[in-house]
Amino acid sequence: MGCDAAIFDVHAEASSEKQALGHFLDGRVSLVVGTHTHVPTADAQILPNGTAYQTDAGMTGDYDSVIGMDKEEPLRRFTRKTPGARFEPADGAASLCGVAVETGADGLAVKIAPVRLGGRLAEAVPAFWG
Ligand SMILES: [Fe+2]
Repeated sequence: MGCDAAIFDVHAEASSEKQALGHFLDGRVSLVVGTHTHVPTADAQILPNGTAYQTDAGMTGDYDSVIGMDKEEPLRRFTRKTPGARFEPADGAASLCGVAVETGADGLAVKIAPVRLGGRLAEAVPAFWG
C-alpha cells in the first residue's frame, strides 16, 4: 500500500455507486466509507480482500432535523414546492457519527465498527476501543 493506511471517502448520493467503489477498491485501501447522505447505514463490514466498508458514516449533528437542518423550512418546501426562508442548522443535541477501523501491518482492515455518540441515536461504541 505504501503507507500505514489509506481511506477512500465516497462523497456521493447513490448507495449502489458506493458499494461498487467498495468492491473495486477491496484489497487496495484500508477503508471505503461513504458520506453526504447524512444518515449512518448499518452495513459496516470487512470486504473479502480486507477493505473495511460502510455505505455512509452519517453526520455529526442534530438528528431531530432534515439532514441537519431545522425541520420547518424543508417541510415547507416539500409540501408547498416553493422556496422561502434560508435553511438554518438544527441546534438540538448533536450525535457524533463515524466509523472506527483497526488495521493490520499490511494496512488492511482487521476490525470495523460504527460510532454513534450523544444526541438522539442509539449509542454505538466499538468493542475494540476497550
Ligand atoms: Fe455533501
